[in-house]
Amino acid sequence: VNHLLGIKYLTKEDIELIFKTANHFKEVINRPIKKVPSLRDITIANLFFENSTRTRLSFELAEKRLSADVVNFSAASSSVKKGETLIDTVNNILSMKVDMVVMRHPNPGAGIFLSRHVKASIINAGDGAHEHPTQALLDSYSIKERLGEVKGKKVVIVGDILHSRVALSNIFALKLQGAEVKVCGPKTLLPKHIESLGVGVETNLKKALEWCDVANMLRVQNERMDISYFPSTREYAQQFQLNKKMLESLNKEIVIMHPGPINRGVEITSDVADAENAIILDQVQNGVAVRMAVIYLLASKINH
Ligand code: CP
Repeated sequence: VNHLLGIKYLTKEDIELIFKTANHFKEVINRPIKKVPSLRDITIANLFFENSTRTRLSFELAEKRLSADVVNFSAASSSVKKGETLIDTVNNILSMKVDMVVMRHPNPGAGIFLSRHVKASIINAGDGAHEHPTQALLDSYSIKERLGEVKGKKVVIVGDILHSRVALSNIFALKLQGAEVKVCGPKTLLPKHIESLGVGVETNLKKALEWCDVANMLRVQNERMDISYFPSTREYAQQFQLNKKMLESLNKEIVIMHPGPINRGVEITSDVADAENAIILDQVQNGVAVRMAVIYLLASKINH
C-alpha cells in the first residue's frame, strides 16, 4: 500500500516496523547534524485545509530531516477560496512533480477519496472526526517508550470521543497492539455503538482513572458541533477535568497524555499538564521521528 489513510488499514506488524524505523530516526535527530540524505529525490506537498500547529510543523520537520523537498499549502490563502475543487487543486500541485501528499481536511474520508483520484502517496494528517493515524502512532510509541510495552496496558481515552479522530485512531492502534481500552466522557459525547470496537465505556472519571495505567485527555471539539449540546464548559470541567485533587485521590501514579491543543483549566489543569508523569511534550517530540518513519517507509515504495 502506498498510502497511510488510517490505522484501520494497518497490521500489528506494520506498526512494529514503523516503531523500529522511528527508533533509528529518533537517534538521528538527537545527533548534532539532525538530517539524513535518504529522500533527496522526493518532493512532498503538505496540504492543510484545516488549522494545525503540531501536525503541520512536525510533518515539515520530518520531511526536511529526511532531505525531501517540501512545499506547503494552506487552504485559507489558496485558490480553494475561489472555488477550485480538491481534485483540481491536488492535480495542479502534482503536475509540478510532487511524489507525496500529506493532507489535513475537515471532511471524514477526504484522504481515501483523494487516493482514488490522484497518482501520489497520500498520508492522512487528520480527516474530520474520522482518523488521525500518525497521532495514534506517536501516542502508542510514547506509551511504549514510557512503560516498555503497549500490550496489556490499560488506557482510558477521556472526553469528546464522538468528534475525535484521535480517539478512533488510538482505539484501532491500541487494540491491534493488545492494550485494554476504555473511553470515558459524558454520554452526549460518546458514539452510540462504541462497544462494538471492543472498548469499555465508563462515565465516571474517578473510576476510569482508578482502572487505568494511562489517561489520554482530549479536548472538547466545539468546532465540530452545530450546537453545543453538552451542558456547559463549566459542567464538563466539574465532571471530567483531570486536576491535582483527582490525581491525589488515586492510590497510584498514572501516565498522562494529551494530543494538544490543550484547553488549560477545562479538560486538564496546568499543574497536571506540566507534571513529571505527563508525557505531552514527549508525544510531540516523538511525532517527528514517527512521521519520518512513515514517510521513509512509504517513499521506499515510490517508483520514479
Ligand atoms: N495533535 C494535533 O493534531 O495538533 P494540531 O491540530 O495542532 O496539529
